[in-house]
Amino acid sequence: MNEKIYNIPLFKVHMPESVLKPLNEVLMSGFIGQGPKVEEFEKKIGDFIGNPNVLTVNSGTSAIQLAYRLAGVGIGDEVITTPMTNIATNVPIIAAGGKIKWADIDSETGSLSPDSVKKKISKKTKAIMAMQWGGYPPNMDEIHEIAQDFGIKVIEDAAQGFGAEYKNRKTGSYSDFTIFSFQAIKHITTGDGGALICRNREDYDRGKLLRWFGIDRDEKGRKDFRCEKDIKEWGYKFHMNDICATIGINQMKYIEGILRKTRANAKRFDNELEGVELLNYANDRKSAYWLYTIKVPDLDLFFSKMKEKGITVSQVHARNDKHTMFNEFQEKLPGVDKFVDGMVCIPVGWWLSDDDLNHIIRSINELS
Ligand SMILES: Cc1ncc(COP(=O)(O)O)c(C=O)c1O
Repeated sequence: MNEKIYNIPLFKVHMPESVLKPLNEVLMSGFIGQGPKVEEFEKKIGDFIGNPNVLTVNSGTSAIQLAYRLAGVGIGDEVITTPMTNIATNVPIIAAGGKIKWADIDSETGSLSPDSVKKKISKKTKAIMAMQWGGYPPNMDEIHEIAQDFGIKVIEDAAQGFGAEYKNRKTGSYSDFTIFSFQAIKHITTGDGGALICRNREDYDRGKLLRWFGIDRDEKGRKDFRCEKDIKEWGYKFHMNDICATIGINQMKYIEGILRKTRANAKRFDNELEGVELLNYANDRKSAYWLYTIKVPDLDLFFSKMKEKGITVSQVHARNDKHTMFNEFQEKLPGVDKFVDGMVCIPVGWWLSDDDLNHIIRSINELS
């Protein structure tokens, strides 16, 4: 009998057909800009995470840029951050005229090490960027404690962590600022898009103005459609539109199912993989498992074996500190060195059938 040929992707666009009817309606409605669909999507996100202060934007990167601005990061200010992430976490620091202070990570989880963060605090520190590797929250109690002691803001880059939980609270409900991404291959997608979640209402109100040039779109008593009120502070053109929001509203119907299936897949890997090192996740939090990361003894062998078996694997992100654009910010980061050595991500998402899961587990275990 011929062996079955597999082609298992690491990521897949989640786009149910049920989006087509509402999308068609909004496309033909005569109004496709930022309108009622954006508000409806924000309400759904707010209900899901347990925080109404939701500002949707046109990408996760825009949400990060807005968060740094609201956190007060300006020229010469420092942000403590991880290099083990998408460059979108860190490029906006440079765009704001800020300086990067790399903190080390916990090599057993890939997440920011609070001990390292503490050592990097200076008078110029304005914010701590707590990125969620694959959707796994770092130790937020310790990070918040440090931030409180030094009077600085905490931003969580949860682009990969929509649906993650920390001590039974959904990510988005416990930090000064949290950002999500809804780009093509995230748990839910709006094509491109993102959201900035603010802990307090004042930041939300200011963020709402800054995501649209600083113009108050809610201004009462306008003579016509023009926003005429004085603009006090310049902002960006970062808002979401009703087309993306319509896709997002529809996607929200599926998020619980996506998380349930993804976590069940991860559990099977936890229980059944052999000959590889698993990450050491704390049981007071729930990863959203956008990534399932393992450490393997021989990366080249692993890559060639997975290719032969039709399973796409990847390290997903290159450590940011090695890019020329970040040359001036160099630090010793033994946790990062250890984490990247043999680290690889395997498919874990909602699209895996039982047969795919069995094939992945069998193929990895054959190497042990
Ligand atoms: C950790 C992280 N931060 C930020 C982003 C940027 O999000 P976007 O692509 O929506 O701008 C991404 C992903 O794409 C990401 O994975």
